[in-house]
Amino acid sequence: MSSKTINLKLKVWRQLNAKTKGKFEIYEVKNISTDSSFLEMVDVLNEQLVNESKEPVAFDHDCREGICGMCSLFINGRAHGPDTEITTCQLHMRTFKDGETISIEPWRAGGFPVIKDLMVDRTAYDKIMQAGGFVSISTGGIPDANAIPIAKPDADEAMDAAACIGCGSCAATCKNSSAMLFVAAKVSQLALLPQGKIEASIRAKNMVAKMDELGFGNCSNTGACEVECPKGISIAHIARLNREYLVAKVKD
Ligand code: FES
Repeated sequence: MSSKTINLKLKVWRQLNAKTKGKFEIYEVKNISTDSSFLEMVDVLNEQLVNESKEPVAFDHDCREGICGMCSLFINGRAHGPDTEITTCQLHMRTFKDGETISIEPWRAGGFPVIKDLMVDRTAYDKIMQAGGFVSISTGGIPDANAIPIAKPDADEAMDAAACIGCGSCAATCKNSSAMLFVAAKVSQLALLPQGKIEASIRAKNMVAKMDELGFGNCSNTGACEVECPKGISIAHIARLNREYLVAKVKD
C-alpha cells in the first residue's frame, strides 16, 4: 500500500518558561507521510527548525506506544487530538487533510504549569499518588496466587481502572480543571481489591485533599473527561470515589 504525503500549516504554542507569556507561532511542514505518527510529524518540524538555526519545539514523549502518558498535547482543541481512546503518540497523520491548519497547545490546567512550549509539569499527579495511591504489604515470600480469591467482576473493574496512564487529559479537558477521573481510577483500582483495604479509610480523603491543595477544581459533572480519556476510563469510578470518600468522612 503506497503512502500519501500532505502539506500542513501548524499553529504551535511557544513559551520560553513558566514566567513568560506564550504565543502561537505559525510553521509550515511539507511532504508529511500519512503513515507517520503525530509526534514523528513534530520531529520533522523540529529538524526543519534546527536546520534553520531556530529553537526546536519542546514537547514531552517517552514510550510512543500509548503506555507512559507523557505525550500530553491539545490538538485542534482536543486532548490527544481528534481521534478517540488513543494518545497523541498513537495519532496518525492520515487523520488530517492536505492543506489543513493544526493548532498544537500544551495542557491548560492550573495544576499543570507550562515548563516550556508544549511541555507541562505533571508532578502534581505524582504528589496525589504519594498521598494515598499505594498499598501497605508485608514483605516476605511471594504469596500463592490463589490464596486471595477475587471475584471476576471485581478483578475486571479493577483492571479497567488500572488502565489509567495518568496523562492528565481529564484535568486538561475539564472546564474546572478537575482531576477527579484520575483520582477516581486510582482509588477504584485499590478499593475493589482486598489488598487495598488497609488504607481504605484514608486513601480517598487524602488523595482528594491533595488534589484540592494542588489547584485542581471540583468535578464539573459534564463527563468531558470520560470522552477524552485515551484509556476509556468510565466516570462510574467517580461514583465509587465519592462513596469511598463519604465512608471515610463518616468514620471520622
Ligand atoms: S509517549 Fe508514552 S503514551 Fe505517548
